[in-house]
Amino acid sequence: MKKSYEVIFENNKKWVESKLAENPDFFKILSASQTPEYLYIGCSDSRVSAEEMMGLKPGEVFVTRNVANLVNTLDMSATAVIQYAVEHLKVKHIIVCGHYGCGGVKAAMTAQDLGLMNPWLRNIRDVYRLHQTELDAITDEHKRYDRLVELNVQEQCINVIKMAVVQEQYLVDEYPIVHGWVFDLRTGKIIDLEIDFENILKDIQKIYNLTNSEWVMSRKKNKNLL
Ligand code: CO
Repeated sequence: MKKSYEVIFENNKKWVESKLAENPDFFKILSASQTPEYLYIGCSDSRVSAEEMMGLKPGEVFVTRNVANLVNTLDMSATAVIQYAVEHLKVKHIIVCGHYGCGGVKAAMTAQDLGLMNPWLRNIRDVYRLHQTELDAITDEHKRYDRLVELNVQEQCINVIKMAVVQEQYLVDEYPIVHGWVFDLRTGKIIDLEIDFENILKDIQKIYNLTNSEWVMSRKKNKNLL
């Protein structure tokens, strides 16, 4: 037990040395500020390492992860992360990334009492209910599971788009753009689900239009866009 824990500090020492060898100012630059272009919302699964699979360096992506990459209106953590990333960091892209073989999605497909996980996983059961006709028509259980992973990503993208800060910021600057991806553990590849951000936004705003027009107008005026 002790050894497995200590190895992290050994790794850290080597990492610091390698970074300083590349650039002696590495940590000086890193500690100065952050201007990430991306917000990544992913699953907590230990096999889905956000920065590593995207080939991004420290400072390039703002990250939040939870079981099955959910964006729930009552989850103060994810909503605060999105608010901060959009309003203050001005991220250009918001990525919701699920993964095939997701334990959270699998658990939600199983009829079982999972205690405190029930209310969390109910969000995925709700995704199933929304798309029940399509999902029930898939006879191959593995394919149905993969499809629910994809539909869950799509619905979480919609949940991001429902947020006032995302709608308002997009009206002012035409970003952030919301993307839905799935990481395939079997190949290592990231698959872009190519969700139609603009049309989803238009559609969503028929019901969930939360934009404060005065705020948007004043922001546009300040930027000489009007
Ligand atoms: Co997962």
